[in-house]
Amino acid sequence: MSYVKYEQKDFVGIITIDREKSLNALNPEVLADLEAVVDAIDADKTRCVIVTGAGKKAFVAGADIGAMSTMGPAEGRAFSANGNDVFRKIEKLPMPVIAAINGYALGGGCELSLSCDIRIAADNAVFGQPEAGLGITPGFGGTQRLARTIGVGKAKEMIYTARNIKADDAYRVGLVNAVYPLDQLMDEAMKMAQRIAGNAPIAVRQCKKAINMGLQMDIDTAASFEPEMFAACCGTQDQHNAMTAFCEKRKHDPFIN
Ligand code: HXC
Repeated sequence: MSYVKYEQKDFVGIITIDREKSLNALNPEVLADLEAVVDAIDADKTRCVIVTGAGKKAFVAGADIGAMSTMGPAEGRAFSANGNDVFRKIEKLPMPVIAAINGYALGGGCELSLSCDIRIAADNAVFGQPEAGLGITPGFGGTQRLARTIGVGKAKEMIYTARNIKADDAYRVGLVNAVYPLDQLMDEAMKMAQRIAGNAPIAVRQCKKAINMGLQMDIDTAASFEPEMFAACCGTQDQHNAMTAFCEKRKHDPFIN
């Protein structure tokens, strides 16, 4: 039995963390299942991925507190490194990843959402990094990605106070791009995913690479790196078909290359 389900709908892959009784909390088995699903994504036929949680209450309520409660330093380091590796794999998927946050996104759940390119939330979503209250630090990327996403001051406040924020505040601080009623969340995620999948796939991937790698560079290096991403699109069938369609004043269907 796997704690992580995968479904392919045309060009969109949907990953569901499915340990509902424990609010989808991440223990080593869930992380292993998630990694296996991510590794198995067919990059040729998947143009966008959605990550969500099973049920109506939680995206992921964090790393499994019971599993962590007896960890010493070596086990803790390995657990943190394992989660970081899996989340980095998600971040480095060539296609965009949307987190559809359907409830609690606490600790490791907030961190999982941060490894995705775009976050959209249901109106019942609650975000937080409660670790400082549990005697640990965020250890699945939260100390790194939260500050990069919402700015240092807000990230430090969330992490030091360990106070949760609701969906509307998450929207206000830029942690999520949009908030929808819970029953519309997956439809909205799917609409966004299909919109992304409807653009030229090579171009979308080069955009992701340019943004993510560029963020790690100084602006001079980044500005000389960007032309490489542009060049990688030039001469492709994608570019030829899309631009020829424009020049010939006809509609281009990027699904037919
Ligand atoms: C293990 C968890 C869990 C978690 C919920 N559950 N969160 N089990 N680890 N993180 C389990 C509960 O024990 C319970 O199991 C069931 O899910 C339902 O949860 P309840 O607490 O009964 O629900 P509710 O009263 O509605 O409260 C929901 C909640 C609360 C506010 C989300 O569950 C909660 O505070 N959970 C912990 C959130 C948290 O602190 N997360 C961060 C963890 S640290 P039973 O068997 O009793 O029904 C972290 C570190 C990441 O994530 C980095 C690691 C390196």
